[in-house]
Amino acid sequence: MFHILSAEQIDHNEFGQLFETAAEFEKTDKRIDSRKEVMQRRFGRIMLSMYYEPSTRTRFSFEIAAKKLGIEVIGTENAAKFSSAAKGETIEDTIRVLNHYGVDAISLRTKEDGQAVRAASVSRVPIINGGDGKGEHPSQAILDLYTIEKEIGRLNNLNIVIGGDLANGRTARSLAQLVSKYPKNHINFVSTPELQIGQDIKAKLVQDGTSFSETSEMYDALRNADVVYWTRLQLERMSEDEKLSIGQENFVLDATALEVLPREAIILHPLPRQAEIPVSTDSDPRAKYFSQAGNGLYIRMAILDTIMSQLS
Ligand code: CP
Repeated sequence: MFHILSAEQIDHNEFGQLFETAAEFEKTDKRIDSRKEVMQRRFGRIMLSMYYEPSTRTRFSFEIAAKKLGIEVIGTENAAKFSSAAKGETIEDTIRVLNHYGVDAISLRTKEDGQAVRAASVSRVPIINGGDGKGEHPSQAILDLYTIEKEIGRLNNLNIVIGGDLANGRTARSLAQLVSKYPKNHINFVSTPELQIGQDIKAKLVQDGTSFSETSEMYDALRNADVVYWTRLQLERMSEDEKLSIGQENFVLDATALEVLPREAIILHPLPRQAEIPVSTDSDPRAKYFSQAGNGLYIRMAILDTIMSQLS
């Protein structure tokens, strides 16, 4: 783990250590004396936080994770406006310059797919992809996997329903790749035909030997689910014509949908949500999306700590 660019790059043997570290940080975070000790771990390091697209969870949890490890954070939540990108500077030039400022890691969210890879191609310091357009969101997928293990106790032999806007949602793309690293999982993708998961992800699943299916019948999919991973419409990535043509009103996890979901299943969502999960669903014991977001803090502490441990 140097640059974190894609879910695909992470060896599944690394997850055990990462999850243990995250669980340890969760424990130490409960007491102020152990918190102070943890703050000594990476004291003197600096993380740059460059966000070209809005974020609540990824940016704040990476920044808080850094602070909890003693890492100084400098950055902008609107790099598109408040960096020289607004004057036409390329991502490569921005990263080249930031490399000369003695920073130790760069947490980056970009509007376009592939920009994290472009940034990493010119960077001597680790680039952490906090979401690149419709591309990938690897740290989200790691925290999703961590949540599944915490809640269900295993990462194999699961029937995982991934639904919503799979054509534009990067979290679904990253999660599908991580799930495929474990044996005997089946992924059932639920979406309208226009919003199906990309051909590239399906090709990777075939290559990994992971079984998957695609459907627009939400109720059928829910009936056998162990994990339901629901996502919102990514309206910011659609043209006006696309927005008019989509119909997602049948993909709402409301009381009727909850009735067909097995009692032991869990519901995850990367958040933010729109109408696809009504607030009334929050009180269902299977709804785990807020604790999932909370797990993100400790997973991101573990990621930063691991990255920093490799630096001289
Ligand atoms: N899940 C997620 O990436 O949320 P943010 O866009 O708020 O970071």
